[in-house]
Amino acid sequence: MPHRTICVLGGTGFVGRHLLDRLAAEGRRLRVLTRNAEAHRELTVLPTVELVEADVHDPATLARRLAGCDAAVNLVGILNEGRGRGRTFREAHVELPRRLVAACREAGVRRLLHMSALNADARAGASAYLRTKGEGEDLVHAAADARLHVTSFRPSVIFGPGDSFLNRFVALARPVPLVFPLACPRARFAPVHVGDVAEALARALDDPHTHGRRYPLCGPREYTLRELVAYALRTAGLRRVVVGLPDWISRLEAAVLEHVPGKPFTRDNYRSLQVASVCGPRNGLRELGIEPTPLEAVAPRYLGRQGWRLRLNRYRRELPLRQLR
Ligand SMILES: NC(=O)c1ccc[n+]([C@@H]2O[C@H](COP(=O)([O-])OP(=O)(O)OC[C@H]3O[C@@H](n4cnc5c(N)ncnc54)[C@H](OP(=O)(O)O)[C@@H]3O)[C@@H](O)[C@H]2O)c1
Repeated sequence: MPHRTICVLGGTGFVGRHLLDRLAAEGRRLRVLTRNAEAHRELTVLPTVELVEADVHDPATLARRLAGCDAAVNLVGILNEGRGRGRTFREAHVELPRRLVAACREAGVRRLLHMSALNADARAGASAYLRTKGEGEDLVHAAADARLHVTSFRPSVIFGPGDSFLNRFVALARPVPLVFPLACPRARFAPVHVGDVAEALARALDDPHTHGRRYPLCGPREYTLRELVAYALRTAGLRRVVVGLPDWISRLEAAVLEHVPGKPFTRDNYRSLQVASVCGPRNGLRELGIEPTPLEAVAPRYLGRQGWRLRLNRYRRELPLRQLR
C-alpha cells in the first residue's frame, strides 16, 4: 500500500522543497510542520501541501500533528548551534528524533525516513555535528520494529538550486576582489544532487527492501573543496584566484568567525571538514536504481544564471553613463 499522507519535519528547507515537489507530483498529501508558516506560505501553491505551524520539540504537539499520517520524514538538521528552543545539536539531532519515534508510535505512524549525514558516528564522529547526527541515526534504527519501519540517508554535501554550499561561496567571493582565501582547501566531498536525494527518499518510501537500511548518498565524482569553489566561482562568472589557507590559519579563522553573528564558520565545522565526505564502494543511489547526476550537468544552470544576471544588471547600471559619453 503506498503511503498517501506524509508528515514532513524540516520540509521548508533546501532538501524539503525538492522532496515536496517530487512527492506532490505523485499526488501524495503532505503535511509540512514548520516553526513559521507565514515565512513559507508559497509552499501551499503545491495543491497537496498543508503547511502547519508547530513546535516539533513538544511531544504532545508532535503526536497531535502526526495523527492521520501514515509516514513521517525527518529533515531537521542544523550546522551550528544557536540560542532558543531546539537549537543545540543534541536537541535537533538526538532529542527530536527520540520524540519523533515516540510520537510515531502514539499516532500509529508506521514508516519513518530519517536524514542523517555521511560520516555521522555517535562515538567516533569528528565533530559534535557528526556525533549527534550519528546518535540520532542509531536511535531511530534502534526504535524500529514491526510497527515502525525506518530507513536513513547519509548524504555527502548536497548541491542544487537553492543550495547553501556552492551559492554561499559565490556570495562570499562576490565582494572580494581578485583573490579568494579559502579555509580547509583540501577537504574532500562527493557532492550529491538534491534531485537525486529527493528521488532516493521517494523511492524508499514504499519499498519494504529499504526497511532497516542506511543509505550513503554521493555524486559520481570526488573533489577537493578548492576544486569545487574554483569551479563555482568560474561558473558564476567571477574571476578570482582561490588561495588555500594553511591549516593553522583555517583553525584560527574558525575560532574567530564562530563569534560573528550567523556563525559563517566554526571550529565544529572545521572538525567536520577533517574527514573526507565521500562514499567508498557503496553508493545508496545506485542501490536504489538512481544514476548519480554530475555536478557539471546542473550547477551552470543555477550558478551561471547569477553571473548572467549580474552582467545584465551591471550593463543596465552603466547604460545611462554610456549614453552620456
Ligand atoms: N544540505 C546539505 O548539504 C546536507 C548534507 C548532509 C546532510 N544534510 C541533512 O539533510 C537535512 C536537510 O538539510 P537541508 O539542507 O534541507 O537543511 P535546511 O535547508 O537548513 O532545512 C532544515 C529545516 O529544518 C527546520 N529546522 C531547522 N532548525 C530547526 C530546529 N532547531 N528545530 C526545528 N526545526 C528546525 C527548518 O524548518 P522551519 O524553519 O520551517 O521550522 C528548516 O527549513 C538535515 O538533516 C541536514 O543535516 C544536509
